[in-house]
Amino acid sequence: MQLADLYRDVILDHNRVPRNFGAVEAPSARVEGFNPLCGDHLVLTLKLEGERIADIRFEGQGCAISTASASLMTEAVKGKSRAEATDIFERMHRLLTDDTADADDAALGKLAALSGVREFPARVKCASLCWHTLASALAVKDVQGHPAVTTE
Ligand code: FES
Repeated sequence: MQLADLYRDVILDHNRVPRNFGAVEAPSARVEGFNPLCGDHLVLTLKLEGERIADIRFEGQGCAISTASASLMTEAVKGKSRAEATDIFERMHRLLTDDTADADDAALGKLAALSGVREFPARVKCASLCWHTLASALAVKDVQGHPAVTTE
């Protein structure tokens, strides 16, 4: 099987059966992401235990790429510390926006399946929507012990 076919299958699978779809109960942070190009949006909720992302879920209306990206993202960062999740975000940002970034970055694992969107500039926003939403959620200061913070 060609690598491109493998990547396509990963994206189709995560669009068909999104992982971590829904909302976290009593979240530490709740952030809405919006793609102004198409009007699609997603809502990301996450629960922190100390510095660790104990749970993370997403819901909303989006295309196959945005749904698959959000599904892959929640799988990748669940259980990680805020610092680790921020590192993954930065690697993904490079992967999606920098043609010279290494798609074989071992730290990205299955997320490398999203590297193909670089060839389709209009779809980069689809793939990065959830990641910018995550970055906003991780940047929320002092979320513990407080009601959910909402950012739009
Ligand atoms: Fe709207 Fe992809 S077309 S997020």
